[in-house]
Amino acid sequence: EKGGYDYFMLKEIAEQPKAVADTLLGRIDAAGSLTLDEVRIPDSVLREVDKVVIVACGTAFHAGLIAKYAIEHWTRMPCEVELASEFRYRDPILDPRTLVIAISQSGETMDTLMALRHAREQGSKVLAICNTNGSTIPRESDAVLYTHAGPEVAVASTKAFLTQLVACYLVALYLGQVRGTKWGDEIGAVIHELSEIAGAVEQVLDTMEPVRELARSLADKNTVLFLGRHVGYPVALEGALKLKELAYMHAEGFAAGELKHGPIALIERDVPVVVIVPSPRGRSVLHDKIVSNIQEIRARGARTIVIAEEGDEAVVPYADHLIRIPATPTLLQPLVATVPLQVFACELATARGNEVDQPRNLAKSVTVE
Ligand code: F6R
Repeated sequence: EKGGYDYFMLKEIAEQPKAVADTLLGRIDAAGSLTLDEVRIPDSVLREVDKVVIVACGTAFHAGLIAKYAIEHWTRMPCEVELASEFRYRDPILDPRTLVIAISQSGETMDTLMALRHAREQGSKVLAICNTNGSTIPRESDAVLYTHAGPEVAVASTKAFLTQLVACYLVALYLGQVRGTKWGDEIGAVIHELSEIAGAVEQVLDTMEPVRELARSLADKNTVLFLGRHVGYPVALEGALKLKELAYMHAEGFAAGELKHGPIALIERDVPVVVIVPSPRGRSVLHDKIVSNIQEIRARGARTIVIAEEGDEAVVPYADHLIRIPATPTLLQPLVATVPLQVFACELATARGNEVDQPRNLAKSVTVE
């Protein structure tokens, strides 16, 4: 059942190229446009939407944080992302022109379910992004876009996360397509890139041995920090969450720009810091800023573990360990940048003798508030 792998988590990490491809299947037509007819919210309603609100928990919340960048960029609509457990307690402003997106692998997470019920009571349309056919969250939503990751057994979410990202990109691009934004050309190009992204994920998986080796060498550390900017910031949060739940280590993700506002005080000799570097192409300002962040922490003794695009030479002098990922458009980078962090956490957990598929105190679906 584990298909020759020691753990379900390893199997599920390896299944990611297929999960990503399956989630795209049938949703891009021959002309390179998106066809999301299964989302039963009529285009006329989607054209009237004036705000998007995303609710989710844990790893699904991180997918939502990344979706915000994509939705705001491609639709020019405001998008809020909120932890489902906080959402309804703050009296959020919702109305029939708000599109609420509830992201959940299991479809049974109580916090997310309560959030979407609250949104529907206010008259908002709810679109579920879900991996489990016929589960409660899609049943109670106006529409659903299923992720096709297949069953995810390991408690720590991996392939479901990548497919949640794909589904979020599809929704963002589709909203851009039906509403018609100035990014029309870019949308077509990104749909094309997305259709090829499974190969890039495969490529990352093929180069993970040094990451496993590195993880084993860090098994006796107490803390690991993660830094990112733009979509790399939620990737940093996800890397830290994976490490907490699997390796039971203290781990924190920060927006790199926040370093000087406090977290840099945590940097001392030999603290491992994982940095997710945005592409030097495209938004190159971000890239240059993060390179100086890496210099800053390294000057204070941090052990820098740098995840950077192939061909990015600017990071080389400051990287104690360099993990290469294929070049992708900036907004899609989380699909490739997250994979080494999953492998890293899984290997560290194994090295520390932890139960990888069933971490202590955690359940696969959280059906209580
Ligand atoms: C982390 C993890 C959890 C879930 C969260 C939401 O690896 O698995 O953080 O992402 O409990 O679960 P779903 O997506 O089922 O609503």
